[in-house]
Amino acid sequence: MKQSVLVTGAADGTGYAIARRFASEGYDVFLTSRDEERAAKAAAKLSEETGVSVVGYGLPVGDEKLVIDLFADIRQRGYLLSTLVLNAANLGIGQVALDVPLEEFRAVIDTNMVWNFSIARQAALQMKEAGGGAIVFITSNTAYRAIPDRVAYGASKSGILGMMRSLALDWGQYGIRVNSVLPGMIKTSRWDHNVGDVRHAPSVHTPLGDIAEFDDIANAAWFLGSNQSRNTTGAEITVDGGNMIQLYPVIR
Ligand SMILES: NC(=O)c1ccc[n+]([C@@H]2O[C@H](COP(=O)([O-])OP(=O)(O)OC[C@H]3O[C@@H](n4cnc5c(N)ncnc54)[C@H](OP(=O)(O)O)[C@@H]3O)[C@@H](O)[C@H]2O)c1
Repeated sequence: MKQSVLVTGAADGTGYAIARRFASEGYDVFLTSRDEERAAKAAAKLSEETGVSVVGYGLPVGDEKLVIDLFADIRQRGYLLSTLVLNAANLGIGQVALDVPLEEFRAVIDTNMVWNFSIARQAALQMKEAGGGAIVFITSNTAYRAIPDRVAYGASKSGILGMMRSLALDWGQYGIRVNSVLPGMIKTSRWDHNVGDVRHAPSVHTPLGDIAEFDDIANAAWFLGSNQSRNTTGAEITVDGGNMIQLYPVIR
């Protein structure tokens, strides 16, 4: 059966780069966006760029029935999914812990943990049938080190690591590997608007002196999501220029 990957939140940026990385290795691609039109546009663009088959799905957050329907469609097209990369995230920016409304806190956990779990489970059902597969969570180095006013986000990204280890244990018997990529800061369009100390993060807070490009994350996802990492499960690859291992700022 043709190798295939599903990447969530892949209409642009990091997710699109991950989808393109797998396409460049000959995988057929399924990608999602919450917006159906964005998904369709990204799919057409990626297919034109790489020549592989790409299908874009509009997938709103939260409804398990929609996830089940999406996987039924993948099956109907003649695939059992080989690789799942869970990239979409609710960033939960600006949630001040002393007054964040519970529904906003819960929305982050629901998206990053519950919704991701529901997608992982449907993928695993196909992978079990196929005799194996790979699931990659894109989490964050904030799973280990806190940043201000991101209480639900940090909790969800740590929680994903616990979920990853449980699923790696439970599904290893089916040949399903479950691993995580932990990006530090990525050069998204948001990066240009960073102010204050954050702007100086690459130069004073990272041994390598730079933050990640989209392709750095895509390469790590490719390694964990492909047979390159055949004997690796429950593992983490941190892609943060060494940000996490540095104790205090170094001003040269
Ligand atoms: N950027 C960083 O510096 C950084 C650092 C560490 C970890 N990460 C992690 O790396 C991954 C990619 O990061 P990124 O900055 O490239 O992400 P992003 O562009 O902010 O989000 C990725 C995709 O997720 C979807 N999304 C956004 N908000 C959402 C919400 N509230 N609920 C559900 N889906 C939502 C969007 O797709 P649609 O709008 O098309 O649905 C978006 O294209 C994420 O898991 C992020 O947590 C990023």
